[in-house]
Amino acid sequence: MRALLMIASFCIWPALALAENPAMGRDAFADHCATCHGLGGEGDGPMAAVLSVAPPDLTRLSAANGGVFPASQVVWRVDGTTEVMAHGGPMPIFGLILDGPSGGIVTEDGEEVIASEAVVNIAAWLRGIQK
Ligand code: HEC
Repeated sequence: MRALLMIASFCIWPALALAENPAMGRDAFADHCATCHGLGGEGDGPMAAVLSVAPPDLTRLSAANGGVFPASQVVWRVDGTTEVMAHGGPMPIFGLILDGPSGGIVTEDGEEVIASEAVVNIAAWLRGIQK
């Protein structure tokens, strides 16, 4: 019985530790991303007009990816693992600003990507606002 309980808690613990929190993601997005991408992520933030490259509409990420939300691309783009534009684009890299405890998000192919909780939560919120 004891062994069974131990096994059960090992199965449950990682799931709890890695839970995504889209509501916290929405708040972090408002704080760090909305100046450019807009509060609803549609690319209409107040800074959009002065940027040399327009911030993309983040509600269309799935539509641009065959209907599948590109979770891993989003996470890596935000934390700076992938730098899309050579020599750096206008979008800042948030790996250090949004650093903290790790979280995980299950991606389009069922894999889990580990990144900081804040980045994972933002990606989870963005997944929910896809059109
Ligand atoms: C200073 C303005 C600015 C801020 C702040 C900003 N972005 Fe961006 N973002 C851009 C621009 C411009 C692009 C397009 C060019 C590029 O990729 O660098 C972009 C691209 C992206 C992409 C890639 C979209 C695609 O089509 O693949 C994602 C995802 C993204 N941003 C998410 C975020 C998130 C999440 C935050 C907050 C943590 C954020 N951005 C903050 C300006 C910004």
